[in-house]
Formats: sequence, structure tokens, C-alpha cells
Amino acid sequence: MNFPIKFISNNENDTKNIALELTKILTNGDIVVLDGDLGAGKTFLVKQFAKLFNLENVNSPTFAIVNVYDGEIKINHFDFYRIEEQRELLDIGFNDYISDQDAITFIEWGSLYSELLPNKCYIISITFDEELNRIFEINRRDK
Ligand SMILES: Nc1ncnc2c1ncn2[C@@H]1O[C@H](COP(=O)(O)OP(=O)(O)O)[C@@H](O)[C@H]1O
Ligand SMILES: [Mg+2]
Repeated sequence: MNFPIKFISNNENDTKNIALELTKILTNGDIVVLDGDLGAGKTFLVKQFAKLFNLENVNSPTFAIVNVYDGEIKINHFDFYRIEEQRELLDIGFNDYISDQDAITFIEWGSLYSELLPNKCYIISITFDEELNRIFEINRRDK
């Protein structure tokens, strides 16, 4: 697979298809940072990804900080938006979550605390073009 991979999404169904593409890329132990403004579709993408493994009821972890879904696969779903300092993440065992080799970990707003991220991770940036279509760019970082 050659990175970056760029997808354009005109509607929710296009984003569902991006989630499907992600199932071909991601494996257990992977960390995926999701960057993009409020309403960009970070939670929506995780929701669609989870649905493909019959994990329903995925909600934004903004207030809980982390939600864990365990079924056909395990997903750790973080949101750093409301975190005020690193310590809050370390105190809830952030490092244990990201070293969990049985889970895929998604981190909304992950770049807000980039110093806590592992060297190896995927970064998905969601931006808008002039026609207000969403652009999902997937990058892989190795160090
Ligand atoms: N093409 C699209 N891709 C993703 N979400 C879309 C798209 N079009 C409309 N939406 C809507 O945009 C909203 C994105 O919200 P959400 O995923 O919670 O954003 P974020 O987590 O980035 O703040 C959802 O209500 C979703 O239904
Ligand atoms: Mg969100």
C-alpha cells in the first residue's frame, strides 16, 4: 500500500466505503489518529468502521475520554478534545491502551498531544475542499 491515500467523500455513504477500505489496512495493535475540525466526521468514520464488525452504539468519547468496544474485534476509541493536560491521559492508563495488541485504537484530536503518540501510527486528516466535499487523507508514520 502506498501512502498517503486520499479519498474524497461527497456523502455519508462514501465515508462508509472509506471505513470499508480501512478494514483492509488496519490490524490489531494499530493506532489511528483522527485529525479534523468539529463535525468533520471523525466519530462517524469510527462508527462505520465498528459497524462492519457488528459493533453498534459507538458514540463520541468526548466526555468519557475513552470508550472500549469488544466483540468480533476490539476498538479503543479516544477523544483528546477535552483533555487539559497529558497527566489526565496517563492517569487513565493511556499507554496500556495503545500497547494493547488485541485492539485497534482510534484517537480523535490525537495531534493535540502528539508527544504521547507512538512512533508508529496512522494519521487520518479530514479537511474540506471548495465544494465542501470531505477529503480523507490517510498517512502512515513509522518514526
Ligand atoms: N461525507 C460525510 N462523511 C462523514 N460525515 C458526514 C458526511 N456528510 C455528512 N456527515 C455528517 O457530519 C457529521 C460528522 O459528525 P462527527 O462524526 O461527530 O464529527 P467529529 O467527530 O469529527 O466532530 C455527522 O452528523 C455525519 O452524519
Ligand atoms: Mg467526534
